[in-house]
Amino acid sequence: MRLAVFASGHGSNLAAIAQELPVSLVFSDDPQSRALTLVPEAQNVSFSPGQFASRVEYEEALAALVKEHSIDLVALAGYMRIIGKPLLATLPGRIVNIHPSLLPHFPGKDSIRRAYDAGVDQTGVTVHFVDEGVDTGPVIIQEAVSTKGTLNELEERVHEVEHRLYPKVLKQLMEEDS
Ligand code: GRF
Repeated sequence: MRLAVFASGHGSNLAAIAQELPVSLVFSDDPQSRALTLVPEAQNVSFSPGQFASRVEYEEALAALVKEHSIDLVALAGYMRIIGKPLLATLPGRIVNIHPSLLPHFPGKDSIRRAYDAGVDQTGVTVHFVDEGVDTGPVIIQEAVSTKGTLNELEERVHEVEHRLYPKVLKQLMEEDS
């Protein structure tokens, strides 16, 4: 099983995954992303939609990239774009995402702060299969996190859960299929 991780930003989930599992390919839509520096033994590739005539062409380039690297499973880890049809069709049911809330609550950006501001007792982490929506798609696992304390403390607790949960789930998915 060959794993690719797509990340747009800081890459802390990528780092946690790479500690537990071999990562064959890291892709970022931002050439400056720290994620591209974290797993030197992987193939690290970056291009952005702005380099293409259309979003579909960008998606087709992504589909070609995962084929070229014989990728079996794609883990989105802070990848800030919707996945389009070309990539979904290339790896049906083999693209997963992690989101810092108990979906369907608080999809989209800034989910930890929005949950905190809403005054809910608990928020959490969701790992789910990806479809064409924003943070939709069948849930694989969820873990709740209490919102007690400050926002910073909550962010730390949520990220701790992410870094523990995501490698574990990916490992299971890779073992199931090997
Ligand atoms: C994580 O909270 C993840 O759940 C969300 O984006 C954040 C990415 O953080 N989708 P990092 O880049 O892995 O540090």
